[in-house]
Amino acid sequence: MIDALAGHLAGAASVVALTGAGVSAASGVPTFRDAQTGLWARYDPMELATPEAFARDPQLVWSWYAWRRSLLARVWPNDAHIALAEWPGRVTVITQNVDGLHQRAGSKAVIELHGRLDRDRCSAVCGTRTPASAAESPPPCPHCGALMRPDVVWFGEALPEQALADALAAVRGADCVLSIGTSSLVRPAAELPWEALAAGVPVGEINTEATLLTGQARWSLRGRADQTLPALVAAIRQRRGDHHEP
Ligand code: OAD
Repeated sequence: MIDALAGHLAGAASVVALTGAGVSAASGVPTFRDAQTGLWARYDPMELATPEAFARDPQLVWSWYAWRRSLLARVWPNDAHIALAEWPGRVTVITQNVDGLHQRAGSKAVIELHGRLDRDRCSAVCGTRTPASAAESPPPCPHCGALMRPDVVWFGEALPEQALADALAAVRGADCVLSIGTSSLVRPAAELPWEALAAGVPVGEINTEATLLTGQARWSLRGRADQTLPALVAAIRQRRGDHHEP
C-alpha cells in the first residue's frame, strides 16, 4: 500500500498533510482520545477546554494548561514532523495540534486550526495576544485588563477564520490530501478530507487505528506516523530517482 501511495505522491505537485495529535505522540505529547493515555480519558474536556469552564474557574483551567505547557517544554519534533519538513516537493501542513512542533522541525507552510499553546490571548474582545505567561494565575490583559487565556480553540468556539479559509482552499486545490494521526472526529477540521473528496482530490490516511475516514481513503496505512512517514518519503524519493540527501 505504501508503494501505491508513493507512486501517486511522486507525481503530485501539491500535497496537503492534515495532522492531529498522533503525529506528536512519538514526541511524548499526550493525544486526546487514545483509550488509556488520551487526555480526554483522564480529564473532562467540558471542565477544562470550554469558555464556560474558564469563566467558572479560570484558575483551574489556567493551571491545567500550565501543566500541558510544562510537558511541551521538554519535547522536540519526532521523525514524523521531520519527514514532513523534509518532504520531497511542496507540502502544506494543516494541523490541529497546538504544540508548534511542525515549525520547530522546519515546516514552513503550516496552517494552525486550533491555535498555539505557547501564546496567550485576551479572554475579552480586544484580541490582544502575547507569548504564553508563566504566571501561576491568568494575568490581566495588558490592553484592557480582562483575564488572559491560552490562545487555543476550545469546544464550542469558532476556528480562526483565515486559517479555516486557507485550509479549505488548500485541500480543494491539492493533488493529494494525507490525514495523519487524527481520529477525524472534531469538526470542522474533520470535514477537510471530505471537502477534498468532494473536489475529486484523493485522500490517504496514516493512523494507528481505523477512523470514520478510513472507508473513503484511497490509501489507508495502519501504523505510527513517525515510522510510516519516513518510509513514505524514502519510497517517493526512490520513485523520483532522488539521490540527494534532504
Ligand atoms: P485524537 O487523540 O482524537 O486522535 C489521535 C489519533 O491518532 C487516534 O486515532 C490514534 O489512533 C492515532 N495515533 C496515536 N498515536 C499515533 C501515532 N504514533 N501515529 C499515528 N497515529 C497515532 O487527537 P486529534 O484527532 O488530533 O481539539 O484530536 C482533534 C482535536 O480534539 C484536538 O485538536 C483537540 C481535541 O479536543 C482542540 O484542541 C480544539
